[in-house]
Amino acid sequence: MKLPENFQVVTHPLIEHKLTYIRDIKTSKKEFKELVNEVAMLMAYEITKDMPLEEVEIETPICKTVSKVLAGKKLVLVPILRAGIGMVDGILKLVPSARVGHIGLYRDETTLKPVSYYFKIPSNCEDRDFILIDPMLATGGSAVYAANMLKDAGAKSIKFMCLIAAPEGVEKFCTAHPDIKVFAAALDEKLNEKGYIVPGLGDAGDRLFGTK
Ligand code: PRP
Ligand code: URA
Repeated sequence: MKLPENFQVVTHPLIEHKLTYIRDIKTSKKEFKELVNEVAMLMAYEITKDMPLEEVEIETPICKTVSKVLAGKKLVLVPILRAGIGMVDGILKLVPSARVGHIGLYRDETTLKPVSYYFKIPSNCEDRDFILIDPMLATGGSAVYAANMLKDAGAKSIKFMCLIAAPEGVEKFCTAHPDIKVFAAALDEKLNEKGYIVPGLGDAGDRLFGTK
């Protein structure tokens, strides 16, 4: 598969190592949740590397100096419910001042189409940088729908991050939203007949919240 220009796999030995245990069926719910947050934090280091800075004057115990802090409006993390929630705390450890919006969607089990039930994001979206978050990009239906909702609300600057992407989802999302850069920790083989990613990690929401 020729990868779209707006798609990037974030590679790092720690990410690959932790992802192996995230995939493993033997991993407990507690460990799964911890590992998902850790990988999200590691990915966020790469995803936020173009955040703008501004200079401020400070005084160290030695002298006055000019140093840099993050500039502009606060970043907004937008997890797609439910499973996206599992990645938020890890990112907030790096960027504690980020705001958090929520998009409630679930995938209809038969049609695999997203069904929307909640939407809440901070005001003044035009001036904010959004990171849309979901561990799984499978058919791409949910992520495309969520990005449409953000754009309809006025968001101009959006990135999308996931743990595992399927080729079908990458193609669908990157075609629908060529202006949104997509970051994944892994690009897997394919979808199975039920729309699950192969080899994947199973149902992300069920594994995070113990609902199966
Ligand atoms: C999962 C996942 C994504 C979606 C991906 O959520 O967290 O949101 O499926 O599939 P897609 O790319 O084919 O749309 P699910 O619909 O299972 O909802 P849940 O998190 O509430 O369990
Ligand atoms: N949603 C999941 O949670 N897992 C998949 O493999 C596909 C969609």
